[in-house]
Amino acid sequence: MEKRYASRMEGLSGNVIRDIFKLIDMPDIISFAGGTPSPSTFPVDDVKRISSHVLDTEGRRILQYGATEGYAPLRATVAGMMKRIGIRAGAENVLAVTGGMQGVDLMCKAFLDVGDAVLVESPTFLGALHTMKLYRPRIIPVPMDAEGMLMDALEERLVKFRPKFIYTIPTFQNPTGKTLGLERRKRMLELARKHGALILEDDPYRDLRYFGEGVPPIAAMDEGLENTAYLMSFSKILSPGLRVGAIIAEPGLHRKLTICKQGVDVHTSLLAQAIASEFVDGGYLARNLPQSIETYRDQLSAMLKGFDAFPAGVSHTKPEGGLFVWAELPGETDTAEVLKEAVKKGVAFIPGASFFTEPGHANTMRLNFSMSDAATITRGMGFLAEVLQSGM
Ligand SMILES: Cc1ncc(COP(=O)(O)O)c(C=O)c1O
Repeated sequence: MEKRYASRMEGLSGNVIRDIFKLIDMPDIISFAGGTPSPSTFPVDDVKRISSHVLDTEGRRILQYGATEGYAPLRATVAGMMKRIGIRAGAENVLAVTGGMQGVDLMCKAFLDVGDAVLVESPTFLGALHTMKLYRPRIIPVPMDAEGMLMDALEERLVKFRPKFIYTIPTFQNPTGKTLGLERRKRMLELARKHGALILEDDPYRDLRYFGEGVPPIAAMDEGLENTAYLMSFSKILSPGLRVGAIIAEPGLHRKLTICKQGVDVHTSLLAQAIASEFVDGGYLARNLPQSIETYRDQLSAMLKGFDAFPAGVSHTKPEGGLFVWAELPGETDTAEVLKEAVKKGVAFIPGASFFTEPGHANTMRLNFSMSDAATITRGMGFLAEVLQSGM
């Protein structure tokens, strides 16, 4: 039969990166195309131990339905984590979500009517763009420089489009690895207040810092969380497969998001929430994170060093954390064409154009450094340098 799909499905093609994964699905390819944490960082034995423990102690509660707002110990754990990064929130401000992606979805559900404006960094996280598109808003890109979103451009768009919210990834941004500096964070909050805008601060990479000093979250400067909703995730510090994150919001917004979540999955898996809570409160995170940081630091250093052999005119970000480096090739170079040659040599990356809502930017690329060890990264960057040196 001819299926009469909803109009929201029009023009949605699914994740374009999946198509690239098909292209690179070859043995022995060195992939900088991924976006996931390294499986070597997954604390499998700890999770086994924690699962047994929480089932032994709370099994009858964990296997029952639970509150939409979240499992009480997890909410308390997240509130504690927020305090440590300067966000004044209690457990009552925490809504457990099924991965940070669900936080983005709930914000869209609560705020976006067809045609409403939402502001995003240009480029931004592809998954968030996909989620937003299902609500058919006008997605307005805000340009960035080396330090993230440009504040004059942001103000201009706040005035012109009156967006329902600003979606920002201020720390080790996906896809660029850029971090918004303290002064710009203050300014963004100031502008949000001045123009009555809400900021969705998506911060899943905060704890993956390998160099330099931390910058406070925007939400930490927003007493009472009047203009910010803060999104955290356990995906990059514990496991993405568990699907646990949290959105931290003032009571009115928290309630609206809870109502939206009730209609989606009732609540996030209690077993997963219990594991995440014990992972932090039992001291496992504090023991595991330094090892992950050390591993990723070596890998990032190898990737950054690899750029030395690239031809002149290639520029790239120098992130202090996260999972990604962003590069721009000179002139008209099309990284989709470079990818074809690179795959023949045995290395892959994601052409950057997919991360933009506007056309162009064919000369950009995202390189992930979490999936190979430092020596392999050095080799892969060497292959890529050869491809680029060959005049691609
Ligand atoms: C900026 C950003 N937000 C959210 C997510 C999704 O994370 P989660 O696994 O918590 O849904 C990702 C994952 O790559 C991301 O890069």
